Amino acid sequence: MHGKLLLSGVAVVLGAGYGAAVFAQAKPDVLVKQRQAGMTMIGKYWGPIGGMASGKTPYNAERVARNAPILEVLSKLPWDGFVETTKDVKSKARPEVWSDNAKFKTAADRMQKAVAQLAKVSTGDEATVKSALSEVGKTCGGCHDDFREKSR
Ligand code: HEC
Repeated sequence: MHGKLLLSGVAVVLGAGYGAAVFAQAKPDVLVKQRQAGMTMIGKYWGPIGGMASGKTPYNAERVARNAPILEVLSKLPWDGFVETTKDVKSKARPEVWSDNAKFKTAADRMQKAVAQLAKVSTGDEATVKSALSEVGKTCGGCHDDFREKSR
């Protein structure tokens, strides 16, 4: 009985510790690395299917069905790393990310919606999938044009 009480007390203390660690803001350079890692993984799963809309890559239904739901999860990752505390860390994010942050957020929302739509139709017919793929492609390119440096 006593032992059990003691254990649950330890669990409460540990739980509080973990909570604090999760919510504490990471250092700016770490945030930049994490958001770039998120974008890199998005690129990894987008790359093999991104060219299918234009026919640059042969259409492969299984690959879309596999990658789209993964992309849907990944599409949520980079954004909490684009915070103003990171603006002096060297990266490819243009100053407009901060000076025109509402537009940046809109572009991020647009991408997440397009990816969610792609995941939703990812097992559907080829024409529907291709049109969803092309919508996603526009959202990547649109944001990169406005908010990503061309070269480091
Ligand atoms: C709302 C804006 C926005 C959207 C939407 C967006 N990106 Fe990015 N992306 C950026 C910015 C800004 C960077 C540079 C980040 C940095 O250097 O910190 C970047 C960087 C990248 C990188 C390079 C990562 C690195 O470490 O240099 C890849 C790959 C990438 N994006 C792929 C994609 C793909 C694929 C999509 C669409 C599915 C996409 N992005 C959508 C803004 C966006």
